[in-house]
Amino acid sequence: MSQNTLTITDNRTGKSYEIPIKNGTIRALDLRQIKLDENDFGMMTYDPAFTNTASCTSKITFIDGDRGILMYRGYPIEELAEKSTYLETAYLILHGELPTRAQLDDWTWHITHHTFIHESIKKFLDGFHYDAHPMGMLISTVAALSTFYKDAKDIFNADSRRKQTYRLIGKMPTLSAFAYRHSLGMPLVYPDNDLSYTGNFLNMLFKTTEVKYKPNPTLEHALDVLFILHADHEQNCSANAMRSVGSSHVDPYCATAAATAALYGPLHGGANEEVLHMLREIGSVKNVPEYIKHVKAKEKLLMGFGHRVYKNYDPRAKIIKRIAYEVFEVMGRNPLIDIALECERIALEDDYFVSHKLYPNVDFYSGLIYEAMGFPISMFTVLFAIPRTAGWIAQWQELLLDAEQKISRPRQVYLGYDKRSYIPIDHR
Ligand code: ACO
Repeated sequence: MSQNTLTITDNRTGKSYEIPIKNGTIRALDLRQIKLDENDFGMMTYDPAFTNTASCTSKITFIDGDRGILMYRGYPIEELAEKSTYLETAYLILHGELPTRAQLDDWTWHITHHTFIHESIKKFLDGFHYDAHPMGMLISTVAALSTFYKDAKDIFNADSRRKQTYRLIGKMPTLSAFAYRHSLGMPLVYPDNDLSYTGNFLNMLFKTTEVKYKPNPTLEHALDVLFILHADHEQNCSANAMRSVGSSHVDPYCATAAATAALYGPLHGGANEEVLHMLREIGSVKNVPEYIKHVKAKEKLLMGFGHRVYKNYDPRAKIIKRIAYEVFEVMGRNPLIDIALECERIALEDDYFVSHKLYPNVDFYSGLIYEAMGFPISMFTVLFAIPRTAGWIAQWQELLLDAEQKISRPRQVYLGYDKRSYIPIDHR
């Protein structure tokens, strides 16, 4: 008998089956041969929320959640955060290799020259209420881009995919900044091609009367590092949305809008907003133990803690914590950091958090930096969506080029009524 197999005995029938094992997994479809009789549909697996199901093979991002390791295309996140730039990392994630100097120049040129958006998008933004959430505006305007670029439907054409990639990575900061300026009632600031990716984003957000906006180099660098840390995270909720929606062969703008919507939720990218709300609610260091009591009684969540995959300190949170102090040097210390540090100190010593393997995740400290940099809370998830776009596109492209993939369509276990007859309304 082959070593790389799993033998399953069905105690209902006494029959045994030998199922091949590849890459530590068995194929769910191989279970379908396990039947009670010829009329039986066959065995399925039940895995709500995909807690133990691989939906794809991937070569993009590796996470070892127990050891706190994150790598893009084999490069550790710590090295990329220290030595790379966001655009170089985005290239790596999308192409699989670090670019040569010429490739990086070409890539940067193309992204920089796709930052402008159609003037009609401004009319959509005008339709939003002054206090519309920027994520709502971003989701809608990314989807709207689909109506401007008919060539985007040509998803199996590599040139078309490349073009939409330039556009999406180039335009996400512009859409985001325009949404922000709209919410303030401020005139929109157009992209400045002399600036870096993050420098230009800061320009579009914060420029007022100066003729030429000069981004603060510390803030520009801090944002670039944050963008590297957020660029991809394998099969998380939004990447799964991108792949699932993309599997219908819709254009990448609509798929990216779906991924952005998934990111908006408070259990995913929306958590960084919730962390700030929570720290404000706690109010002072002395109130932390009381708050932790409520968390342990399961009345509240400690937002920014816990992760489906990391059962150790999230490596991104470590880097963000360090960058926070660099930002505080320039912008002043965010007083909420002391409350956050106290939450972390108590949690890391507490048996509840230790036994549940709950550690700070990427969102725990990112909001504190964003706030210190002058971003309103409502922009935090937007600051996640912009860099994650590179990861989403890489995941989408990998899906399209994977011959094993098909339209995403899970099964269900139906537990509802058997067939019954319609009852006229007067007889109910
Ligand atoms: N505070 C308190 N208890 C928690 C927390 C938390 N933040 N997170 C998980 N737990 C507890 C749960 O109550 C559960 O306890 P039990 O086993 O005694 O019932 C146990 O830990 C396992 O939690 P699950 O929710 O089953 O774990 P899951 O993998 O489904 O959820 C999630 C992961 C959603 C991230 C969760 O930890 C959470 O809600 N955290 C707070 C929100 C947050 O920070 N989200 C950002 C995640 S990072 C990202 O998406 C970018």
